[in-house]
Parts: sequence; structure tokens; C-alpha cells
Amino acid sequence: MYLDFYGLREKPFSATPDPKFLYLTRRHRDALAQLTYGVQNDVGFVLLTGEVGTGKTTLLRTLLSRLDGATAAAFVFNSTLSFDGLLEYILEDFGIAKAGDTPAQRLVALNNFLIERHRAGQRTILILDEAQNLTLETLEQIRLLSNFETPTAKLLQILLVGQPELRTKLRLPAMRQLQQRITLRFSIGPLSPEETREYIYARLRIAGARDLGIFTPRAIHR
Ligand SMILES: Nc1ncnc2c1ncn2[C@@H]1O[C@H](COP(=O)(O)OP(=O)(O)OP(=O)(O)O)[C@@H](O)[C@H]1O
Ligand SMILES: [Mg+2]
Repeated sequence: MYLDFYGLREKPFSATPDPKFLYLTRRHRDALAQLTYGVQNDVGFVLLTGEVGTGKTTLLRTLLSRLDGATAAAFVFNSTLSFDGLLEYILEDFGIAKAGDTPAQRLVALNNFLIERHRAGQRTILILDEAQNLTLETLEQIRLLSNFETPTAKLLQILLVGQPELRTKLRLPAMRQLQQRITLRFSIGPLSPEETREYIYARLRIAGARDLGIFTPRAIHR
């Protein structure tokens, strides 16, 4: 197999967002630091955008793998769900048993879950990946989820992550209120040529390559 031939333990460029292969450019590092800050502080909504394939989902997986035991996260990556479907999914992801049969009962169950966690000094975050596909109606309902609060604290930190169209969507007049709640926003851009070279070498190294010359500078340039 080609892996043996090149002295690799595994495929260096598999298309899954595996955090093990994460190569942090300065922007990725900043983004991860900001995301971490966002989930550890009551900042309201956090928005992360970036073009297709710039590593957003990989960053999120990394963030998840670094969360401490006192933080629970629901990770939604199916943005074609209706809000009710989303809510069901979120409750399931948080492991909330007996969530009720109607959307209203599910909202109550989620609220109780959040209050209990808050009392125990625990954090709860909701991550919505691929959020550019969410409808305006669903986004508005998600905004209402951030109304779960005590007089002093938000009970749910929400991370909206998606492609640049998400920003465009959020600028629509109907999204005014959600837009106002976003206190932390940043984007990650594509890799520079130098970063691309470092990125390729980093992945080869992680996959076990000893000879990094298997990618010539010309191949990288292309
Ligand atoms: N900084 C990085 N370090 C390691 N791998 C990366 C990095 N950026 C992207 N990748 C790789 O590129 C591919 C796409 O990354 P990822 O799925 O995280 O991008 P994305 O921004 O979520 O894209 P999309 O907008 O299509 O969802 C994956 O195979 C991932 O491993
Ligand atoms: Mg993604």
C-alpha cells in the first residue's frame, strides 16, 4: 500500500475533521483562544465564520476535546433541522431524559437542566456548526434560547459557526436582535503559501512520515 511505501502510519490527508491533525496558524490559535474565552465567560453569542474548508469544524472538535468536566456541550451539525427537530436533538445530546412530548415541555426540560447545572457551578454550551444553512425563523428561535438566564448570568452560551454567508444572513433587518447579542465575532481566512507548506509537513509528520521530501516544493506550490 502507498502508506508503507511512504513510511506513513496512516493517511495524512483524510477528509475528516480529526483534531489530532490540527495545524494551528496564528489565526487558528487566536480563534481557538477566543472560542475558549467565549465559552468560559458569559459573553452571549459567539460568531465564528470562515470559507469552506478553513478548519472551523476541526477547531470545534479541538475545543470540545479540551473542555473541562464542568462544561457540557451539545454539538449540532445538521443545520437542515427545523427548530423543533433541533431542540429534540439538543436534549438528546445533553442526555436529558424524560424531556416531554411537546416543544413547550422540551423547552421547560431544557430550562430546568440549565438551572440545575448553573446551581452546581457548571457551564453549558450549544454549538451550531454549518449555521449558514439555518433559516431565519430557526435563528430567531435560537436567539430566544439565550433568554434562559438568571438575573446575573446567561445559562446557555451559544456558538454560531459557519461560512461567510452566515454574516450576510445576520445583517438582514429581521436578524437585528440576534445581531445585537453577538458580543464576540471573528473569522478565519485561508492559509498563506507558507502556512500551506507548514500545514502539509505537519500532517505528514503526524501521520508518521520521516521523509518530508515526498512533497516537493513545486507540488506544494501548486
Ligand atoms: N488548520 C488545520 N489543521 C488541520 N487540518 C485542517 C486545518 N484546516 C482544515 N483542515 C482539514 O481540512 C478539511 C476541512 O476542514 P474542516 O471540515 O474543519 O473545515 P470547515 O471550515 O469546517 O469547512 P466547511 O465550511 O466546509 O464546513 C479537514 O480534512 C480538516 O482536517
Ligand atoms: Mg465544517
